[in-house]
Parts: sequence; structure tokens; C-alpha cells
Amino acid sequence: MSTPRRIAVIIGSLRKASFSRKAALAMKSVAPPELDLQVTEIGDLALYNEELDENPEATPQPWTRFRDVLRSSDGFLIFTPEYNRSLPGVLKNAIDVGSRPGGKSSWAGGKPAGVVSVTPYNNGAMSANHALRQCMVYLDVPVMQQPEMYVSNAGKSFGDNGEFTSDDTKKLFTKFIGAYAAWVEKLAK
Ligand code: FNR
Repeated sequence: MSTPRRIAVIIGSLRKASFSRKAALAMKSVAPPELDLQVTEIGDLALYNEELDENPEATPQPWTRFRDVLRSSDGFLIFTPEYNRSLPGVLKNAIDVGSRPGGKSSWAGGKPAGVVSVTPYNNGAMSANHALRQCMVYLDVPVMQQPEMYVSNAGKSFGDNGEFTSDDTKKLFTKFIGAYAAWVEKLAK
């Protein structure tokens, strides 16, 4: 088998018991062998301040680490909660950090992305999903269009370590990650 594609998994929540994190772990458990899903943490990224990019010595090391991960990945899989009908600030900050310095976006390269929105309520966090897609449009990151993935009732859908609590959810996740693997192959450089 050829080397698996390295996919940076980004989770837009810092909570230890985050449902988005559980959804990411659940997704990893059904990912096909051609994908290597690796969570990259974003909680240590200082709030973006352009001044810190003006002098390389002032650039925070976690920014550099995060940018390196984006650059060395073959694709991105982003799990977002919904905060006030949009994406959480911590995730937006990570997107902003990755997008700079100007003209040197680490999101560049047309790498295949997937978006999963997660909520304990029944709205699928759809507004966050689309707010995130909007950022990706500007960053020229091609996000898989279909199937979309809106996870409702996330509080009941996963065990502590991302185990599926129902076969229906497992089937949905398996279908999504299979389609994403095909998306990755289609856009692979
Ligand atoms: C929320 N929550 C929320 N949920 C939702 O479906 N739509 C929303 O607009 C919001 N808004 C919102 C704002 C803020 C500031 C917080 C803290 C929470 C609830 C949210 O879905 C819930 O806290 C999830 O558990 C967050 O995701 P994680 O941390 O479990 O991944």
C-alpha cells in the first residue's frame, strides 16, 4: 500500500470533554487506511497580532509549529462547534494564524478539506459550518461539497473516547470519511 495521506485534524474547541473532539476521534476510528488523521492542537496559539510577524524572532513558536503542520499536510479536516451562530474564536484565530504573513498562507496549495459541524442541540451547527466554509473560500482551500456533515445531538452520539453509540451515526461517519478519502485522491498533488 502507498503511504497514507497526512490529514491535519483541527478541532475548534478547547474543552477536554468537547463533543467536537469526540466526533473527531469517532471519525478517526472509521477512517480508511489511506488516510492518516492527526489532531493538531490550537489552544496554544496566541491571539493573532500582525506585529509579531514583522520580526521573525518575535513570531511565537506555536504559530510556526501550526503553520509547519498545515504546510506538511496533504489535507485538512476541521471539526467545529457553533458559537453564537458562527465558528468559535479559537478556531478563527487558528485560521488567521495559518493565513499569515501576507502572501505566505500556510493554507495555500489547493489541498482538500472537509468540514464537520457539531452541536449537542438539533440544529447541526449549520451556521458555523457555513461560516467556516466562507473562510475557506477566501483562503482558496477546496472544501468537499457533498456529503455535508452536520452532527446534532452530539451529547448522546459518542462515548468518552469517541465510541459511536448508534450504528446510524457510525454509518454516516463512514460514508463521510469514505467520500473525503476520494476527495483527497482526486485533488492529490
Ligand atoms: C454555544 N453553544 C451553541 N450551540 C449551538 O448549536 N449554536 C450556537 O449558536 C451556540 N452558541 C454558543 C455560544 C457560546 C459562547 C458557547 C460557549 C456555546 C453551545 C455549544 O454547542 C456547546 O457548548 C458545545 O458543547 C460546544 O462544543 P464542544 O466544546 O462540545 O465541542
